[in-house]
Amino acid sequence: MSIKIAIVGAGSGYMPGVIRGLLHRAADLAGAELAFHDVHREHLALMARLATAMFAARGADFTVTSHTELKPALDGASYVFTTFRPGGMAARHLDESIPLKYGVVGQETAGPGGFLMACRSVPVLLRIAELADPDAWIVNYTNPTNIVTDAVLRYRPGTRIIGLCDQHVGDTEMWAELLGLPAARLEADWIGLNHATWAERVRLHGEPLDLPALLADLEIPGGGATPWRDPSRMAELARALGLLPNSYAKYYFFHDEVVRELRAKGTTRAQDISAMLPGYYASLAAEAAKPDPDPSRERGGGEHGEFAVDVICALHRDEDRRMIVNIRNDGAISSLDDDAVVEVPARIGRKGPLRSAMGPLPLPVRGLTQAIWTYERLAADAAATGDRRTALQALMAHPFVRDKHTAERILHEGLAAHRDHLPQFAR
Ligand code: G6P
Ligand code: MN
Repeated sequence: MSIKIAIVGAGSGYMPGVIRGLLHRAADLAGAELAFHDVHREHLALMARLATAMFAARGADFTVTSHTELKPALDGASYVFTTFRPGGMAARHLDESIPLKYGVVGQETAGPGGFLMACRSVPVLLRIAELADPDAWIVNYTNPTNIVTDAVLRYRPGTRIIGLCDQHVGDTEMWAELLGLPAARLEADWIGLNHATWAERVRLHGEPLDLPALLADLEIPGGGATPWRDPSRMAELARALGLLPNSYAKYYFFHDEVVRELRAKGTTRAQDISAMLPGYYASLAAEAAKPDPDPSRERGGGEHGEFAVDVICALHRDEDRRMIVNIRNDGAISSLDDDAVVEVPARIGRKGPLRSAMGPLPLPVRGLTQAIWTYERLAADAAATGDRRTALQALMAHPFVRDKHTAERILHEGLAAHRDHLPQFAR
């Protein structure tokens, strides 16, 4: 049966990976209409050309349509895959640089940077939820994915949404390497909040591993961080906490050191990416003109695209497949509220995600995760309503900030810098 899948943010640099993901499930989605949407006309046209060429070269039965308006893209779509960055890299640069001026980690999704991003993302997702068919599934990559998911669930009740992040795939691979285990056979129960998950239960070939024993032998590797991972700090944290931390844990447990490093580095991640993007898009354009395009994997080249398409297939084909996703807690993590949005393993089929009881969060990170959760709830409310006092409370609740005057300064500067994207705060 043929379906329509809308892709909002189809001009994104991550799109070649999504196209590859679609190709890898082309047989399962045969006949689908793919409605590409982006506000950036040129990037939209480029990705439509690239996708059409790649599908033709591999004989994939997809029809691509292009849209700059949301309504026609969403009309009749059973799946709405959202993968845009509101404000693009220019806005991300502000998110990453403003907190740093006040001695706070400037990061795209964690801390005040993530808060400002949430203020831009949430209104767009609320609008998408309003326009999409009531039965459609929103499969969301737009960050901060957990805050966006929480806002949609509470401000557009009845919407079906799953928040995605592929971080756990690469983190599990990093841990396999650190522990000297084969990545393909290693399965970890990552639980917590997006970009704040922890794993105490780990299995190899389905058999539970003795993590304390493994960690006792864990050596701290040399070598520095990449933009995505920092194995040496992760190993240090694992030994201290007695569990596997996710990659973003370093921002919480090495906060001041990271601030010094980010300041010394001098450019933001957004600036670094902006510098490579023109060449990257030019190379995609050149590839799109070839008979069998093989676009660069420089952005979103890993599991990113396949993971999202696999989630759509799991829903559509009732696959009952185990995947780690962001959903309403409802008892999955006993130490967090039922209506919290948590990241947990779930079995995904036609009815949506089926969670299982994972117990409480480990004590060494329970309080921290609770604090991040309260921040996220307040951030979702502030982003949805534009209430400044709630916004201040959100930043004061965040473990990076707390200090009232610091929170006020970041908020003041951040909301002013982004005012063109934040109509909800314009009062
Ligand atoms: C990881 C995170 C994503 C984030 C991305 C940014 O994959 O899980 O949530 O969007 O990093 O990567 P970038 O290359 O844009 O810094
Ligand atoms: Mn992520």
